[in-house]
Amino acid sequence: MVTKAKITGIGSYLPQRIISNDELSKTMDTSDEWIVQRSGIRMRHQAAEGEFTSDLGVQAAQKALQHAGLTIEQIDLIVVATTTPDLTFPATAALIQKKLGMTHGAAFDVQAVCSGFVYGLSVTSAMIESGQAKNALLIGAETMTRLLNWQDRTTAVLFGDGAGAIVMSQCEVTGRDQSHVLGSYLRSDGALSDILYVDGGPSTTGTTGHLIMEGREVYRHAVGNISDAIESLLASSGYQVADIDWFVPHQANRRIIEGVAKKIGLPPEKTVITVDKHANTSSASIPLALDLAVRDGRIKSGDLVMLEAMGGGLSWGSNLIRW
Ligand code: ACO
Repeated sequence: MVTKAKITGIGSYLPQRIISNDELSKTMDTSDEWIVQRSGIRMRHQAAEGEFTSDLGVQAAQKALQHAGLTIEQIDLIVVATTTPDLTFPATAALIQKKLGMTHGAAFDVQAVCSGFVYGLSVTSAMIESGQAKNALLIGAETMTRLLNWQDRTTAVLFGDGAGAIVMSQCEVTGRDQSHVLGSYLRSDGALSDILYVDGGPSTTGTTGHLIMEGREVYRHAVGNISDAIESLLASSGYQVADIDWFVPHQANRRIIEGVAKKIGLPPEKTVITVDKHANTSSASIPLALDLAVRDGRIKSGDLVMLEAMGGGLSWGSNLIRW
């Protein structure tokens, strides 16, 4: 028997306010047609004034706890993947810990931008496998709209706010067909840090800054890097593309998702796409998509699920899960 981590609960949250492409086209030189054709995005949600990343994370975490049938007293670790923290410090995970009324255990943030959830899942499962935690909350929560320059139509139309969370629990497995995290693959290349970044920070400008992206360059790297992350993880885990039941990618852009599926030879009907409903919510997008596919009955116990993401850093990676 080997100690592993499995996913025992999931939940997500989107703020109430919805901004359609048509609404955006009233205040900037864009159109529903352009946005849908280039990205697949139809709408995004925006956090209300006074609603912070930690609040979105708390909502998602409470639903995940309820789904797992656990109380906060049974959780001993909170990991939050975010690139839009409430404050420079303390960690948003600590603020969520406080809001959930948890007075024991540990809480910290992971910063890998859009790959945050994939990185967080790798770190959290490693901590559970090594015995440092028994039940953990992994939350991806973002208020990306607060990083946007609303005068820049090349980025403002692509992002939104939201949160998703999973509960991960320690388990003993005897075979790879039992529910657990089978493995993860993480990569980054800081030499490409200047094609997707935020032009501010506490140590440089003393301001938050705005998101800057060379869209074409990011696109150029995305399909190759992501395909490599999936194929490398399949190879090291002893599986093939045909074994994947569900492909749940980071929801940045429909064209990137379909390009990856085509490159690796995965049929479109095995791909979960939700980018149309909430745009790019960075580290929240994978658990948002996962939650939908679990709740509508597509992803079932025993399915082989592949997650992947690429984001600022550049950072990229994948996780393979027996659900
Ligand atoms: N509305 C209307 N026109 C626009 C808009 C807009 N919102 N934005 C740009 N344009 C114009 C440009 O000005 C340009 O006009 P021009 O030809 O007169 O100069 C024209 O549309 C084409 O612009 P491109 O940038 O070449 O458009 P492209 O087809 O490359 O699509 C996009 C842009 C969607 C950003 C694409 O490059 C892309 O998908 N990149 C990947 C980026 C991505 O998904 N990033 C998410 C972050 S990655 C991750 O998750 C971190």
